[in-house]
Amino acid sequence: MHKTDFLIIGSGIAGLSFALKIASHFKNASITIVTKSEKNECNTKYAQGGIATVWNKTVDSFEQHIKDTLVAGDGLCDEGVVKMVIEEAPERILELIEWGTNFDKNKEQFSLGREGGHSQFRILHHKDITGAEIERALIEQVEKNENIHFLEHHFAIDLITEHQVTKKRITRKEKTTCYGAYVLDEYKNIVKTFAAKVTMLATGGNGQVYSTTTNPIVATGDGIAMAYRAKAEISEVEFIQFHPTALYNPGEYPAFLISEAVRGEGAILRDYFGERFMQKYDEREELASRDIVARAIDSELKKSGSPHVYLDCTHIPYEKFKKHFPNITEKCLSIGIDVREDYIPVSPAQHYICGGVSISKKAKTSIKNLYASGEVTRSGLHGANRLASNSLLEGLVFSHNAFKNLTKRFPKIELPNHIPEWNDSGVVKNMEKILITHDRNEVKTIMSNYVGIVRSNERLLRAEKRLLNLYEDNKRLYNHSELSVDLCELRNLITTAYLITQFSKNRKENRGGFYNADLMRLSKKCHSECK
Ligand code: FAD
Ligand code: SIN
Repeated sequence: MHKTDFLIIGSGIAGLSFALKIASHFKNASITIVTKSEKNECNTKYAQGGIATVWNKTVDSFEQHIKDTLVAGDGLCDEGVVKMVIEEAPERILELIEWGTNFDKNKEQFSLGREGGHSQFRILHHKDITGAEIERALIEQVEKNENIHFLEHHFAIDLITEHQVTKKRITRKEKTTCYGAYVLDEYKNIVKTFAAKVTMLATGGNGQVYSTTTNPIVATGDGIAMAYRAKAEISEVEFIQFHPTALYNPGEYPAFLISEAVRGEGAILRDYFGERFMQKYDEREELASRDIVARAIDSELKKSGSPHVYLDCTHIPYEKFKKHFPNITEKCLSIGIDVREDYIPVSPAQHYICGGVSISKKAKTSIKNLYASGEVTRSGLHGANRLASNSLLEGLVFSHNAFKNLTKRFPKIELPNHIPEWNDSGVVKNMEKILITHDRNEVKTIMSNYVGIVRSNERLLRAEKRLLNLYEDNKRLYNHSELSVDLCELRNLITTAYLITQFSKNRKENRGGFYNADLMRLSKKCHSECK
């Protein structure tokens, strides 16, 4: 049994910023971060465009950023949450800078980028590798703290609640408390029991449920699946965001992103024959919000039968382009694309999940002493479609709010005496790992074919049926096999995929990133084009 005051699951922006705040306030507390891969492997590391905030108040205002967020969210944002996050943003970003993050400057002023759905240039960035720079700075700070215990290759399997402590079956209606988590130590191949007064779920996204995604392989929806099994409230997971412009490079997985900031600098989308098309879909053209641009591209691809469209950057001054986007320039060159002369082949890819574990403004889940922050959550900020570069910000703000809430609550929290150790009696070594690979691929195919950018009632029914089969097969395997990360991830992928499908079936109107061709499209005009 490992006892810790704070157990943080995940080492992206949400988990690390929370750890830093807790460590600086509760000097004698023990803080453990468990992360399933290397410490910097997470969605945060791959963030390109940057982090949105109102910095230049002479041309921009909180009201404009709030409005842009609400418009992108297509009527489903929680306005109070949007206001809170956007007004808190400059303060949180200043902390990020104090922790050592470098954002690009032009003379003495921050150089601000723009992305789809933003009415102003307001995105702070570090070239086109903003996430890697943030992750570097946060890890450096965390490693200076002696009371933070950082455990790599430690995979959280399940949260511990009354279900394990009382050995009773818990229903979704009952009030429960979280007492930590069971964690697989991949080095020793043993399951450790972490008893914690407070657990922070910061496990990020779930892109791996799709065949094409910009998310790294760690993004398997573990947090959503764990929370669901622990009977936490989950919401709005049907709102999957597909990024319009992932590099089309067959065989490369995950897909390399061509940042939306490239369109912010003036890049133009062209169809397979070189013609512009965004004017047919939205008056903001290339800078419409992501859901609209992704659906427009999907529609063009279906019409032409081509696997990609093009992003034309040839008219953007090369020196300027290279300075802001050195990583993209280099990546393109490495596959023979010179952005001065060649169009970049792009197609949409899964990028982000807008819903997840429901949290309050204080980052509390429906389970006592279980907090959650970042992409794993449904906070009310994104509604039906996240505004670009609002996600890093969400992690910072909600981790801060959780910390603030705990400054009052933590001293009163106690651990129960009887937390049972993990029981793995009766399991045998799984000799057929290939079954896990087959099933993982099957989940991706089902989700990409039937629960993608454009869904339909028939597609959702097919997905549900096939996922239920997979669920039954996996349950058998899981109950009898020695645990491995692959097996646990497969279990979580199936659960998350199933939840996305169920929530999609239950949604009866099209909004933001959710589009079912059998339903009415409420607010946007491209219904017929998209069908
Ligand atoms: P993550 O950074 O994904 O961290 C999750 C952590 O949890 C990881 O360390 C992971 O290993 C760990 N973990 C997961 N499951 C387990 C488990 N079972 N046990 C232990 N550990 C576990 N957003 C923006 O705002 N601006 C951008 O410019 C931007 N660009 C992006 C570009 C790309 C290519 C991608 C993929 C995303 C981008 N996003 C951007 C989205 C943004 O990066 C993420 O939403 C955000 O970083 C999520 O942070 P997080 O801390 O919640 O999760
Ligand atoms: C991008 O750079 O296009 C990604 C921005 C985001 O996901 O917010």
